[in-house]
Amino acid sequence: MSNTASGNTSPNLENRLQIEQLLNAATLSASALTEKSDVISGLTQKPKSVQARYFYDDDGSQLFEQICDLPEYYLTRTETAILQECVKSIAQITGACELVELGSGSSTKTRILLDAYNQLNLPLHYVSIDVSAGILESSAKALLANYPSLQVHALVSTYELALKQLKPASLPNRLICFIGSSLGNLNPQECQVFFSQITKALQRGEYFLLGIDLHKSKNILEPAYNDSQGVTAAFNLNMLNHLNQRFDGNFDLTQFEHLAFYNETQRQIEMYLRSLRAQTVTLNALDLTIEIASDETILTEISRKFDLNSIQQELRSHGLKPMQVWTDANQHFGVLLCRLLN
Ligand code: TRP
Repeated sequence: MSNTASGNTSPNLENRLQIEQLLNAATLSASALTEKSDVISGLTQKPKSVQARYFYDDDGSQLFEQICDLPEYYLTRTETAILQECVKSIAQITGACELVELGSGSSTKTRILLDAYNQLNLPLHYVSIDVSAGILESSAKALLANYPSLQVHALVSTYELALKQLKPASLPNRLICFIGSSLGNLNPQECQVFFSQITKALQRGEYFLLGIDLHKSKNILEPAYNDSQGVTAAFNLNMLNHLNQRFDGNFDLTQFEHLAFYNETQRQIEMYLRSLRAQTVTLNALDLTIEIASDETILTEISRKFDLNSIQQELRSHGLKPMQVWTDANQHFGVLLCRLLN
């Protein structure tokens, strides 16, 4: 099921890029069915919710890139700075190593890692995993143009499917990277499942790199999800646009507002869309009509904030031994390099 990309932008591109589609017709139609029932159950239960993956249509992905550059959104720049400090040690510890990245995005942070391996004259093998074929192909081609010895294997796939189907590493070792505090967007139960998928995808002695946002004052956390330019609000509201397009719906974006706050007990940012009046919304493709009360909220995302000691304990309980932990001077963000021990 693999094909080689055409349209050369750099020498030997066709030998260095392999794009593999794991989302075939069968998995796609099965997932379309679960998607529909997920949306229906989310919107008909109380409290209402929509799965966070509906943030990411083309507009949503673009808005997300903008969020990463916002002055209030300290996460991206803090993690980038930590990585710049620690990648050399990471490359020294792991040695020649296949890099596997879950959700590669604009790949700015991937370049920091590749640079470190490159500087140690280690071979560069990169496996990128994303559900969007377009993003995968364009970021892979951009990387190949800059790293003449790089080999990219891009998997159009969900994390779950890709982790299940990963072949043994093409180099003596493997490092699976899950950065950007995406772990925080999983609830504790999903987090457990995720860690066991990671350990199944690793051989003993292989590595897992995790970037997580840490618990801190509300005064820093809340502005990061309520920026003054309203980009996060636009990103949140865009989900309704996406649902309208996908399921032939009539959500009126002017009748909802963005709401995000830090829940101190759960240690998580909760992001909602709040209805500004009582309203009825229909999604034709789902045969669904829902009533939304004035002030009623729809949960769209959680972003958990971690404690370095408890997360290390949790990783250890899955056999993932933290080898080294890096953080910034303010302890706002953490990067952990773990190794599978059993
Ligand atoms: N994982 C990051 C975070 O929790 C990025 C992110 C995911 C995000 N969904 C978001 C940021 C929604 C803002 C709004 O912060």
